[in-house]
Amino acid sequence: MGKKIAVLVSGGGTNLQALIDAEKSGIIKNGSISLVISNVSGAYALERAKNAGIKTETVIKKELGGQAAFEEKIISLLTENEIDLIVLAGFMSILSENFTKTYPHRIVNVHPSLIPSFCGKGFYGLHVHEAALAKGVKVTGATVHFVNEIPDGGEIILQRAVEIKEGDTPEILQKRVMVEAEWNILPEAVSLFCQDRLEVKNNKVYIGE
Ligand code: GAR
Repeated sequence: MGKKIAVLVSGGGTNLQALIDAEKSGIIKNGSISLVISNVSGAYALERAKNAGIKTETVIKKELGGQAAFEEKIISLLTENEIDLIVLAGFMSILSENFTKTYPHRIVNVHPSLIPSFCGKGFYGLHVHEAALAKGVKVTGATVHFVNEIPDGGEIILQRAVEIKEGDTPEILQKRVMVEAEWNILPEAVSLFCQDRLEVKNNKVYIGE
């Protein structure tokens, strides 16, 4: 039946959509998205999941009283649904070491820069592209990596470079990074995981046949 995937989201969910489309077209081998969890009520990503017939859950930190209860609730949903792989796709809440240690090399995240540039605390969403443009880098891109206790610090699985062009605004650049990089490398990395083709050795990821 393949691996069961949960996708954690907070916003528009275009990366979730890329995963849904990739599963449908067969790009994701040996895996299927069986649960979408949002930490923001009314996130458009939830609509995308419902339209695709995928089960959704909303988990609000404030309503639960704090980080520990928030993570416990997510863990119980992942356990109940027998999830093998957790994908952070525009999930804007940092998970504690207690959470990440529960799922070693079973959580992946997509980040909109070439890590280790423009990453870590405070670098999320549009801010990442603002920082890249402010620095004047000529090339940026996206990274899919395993998630550990260090924000954006886990082993790198796939990266793709994207050119910066004259006249780019953060919004224009964000869109190009999504189209040319994120929407391709996230489904690819998920497919590799689901086929057991990712091996971690000495803080590096090796891709097997
Ligand atoms: C994406 O660009 C994703 O890489 C980024 O937020 C956007 C979410 O868009 N994630 C981060 O910055 C995480 N540090 P989406 O909701 O349309 O997929």
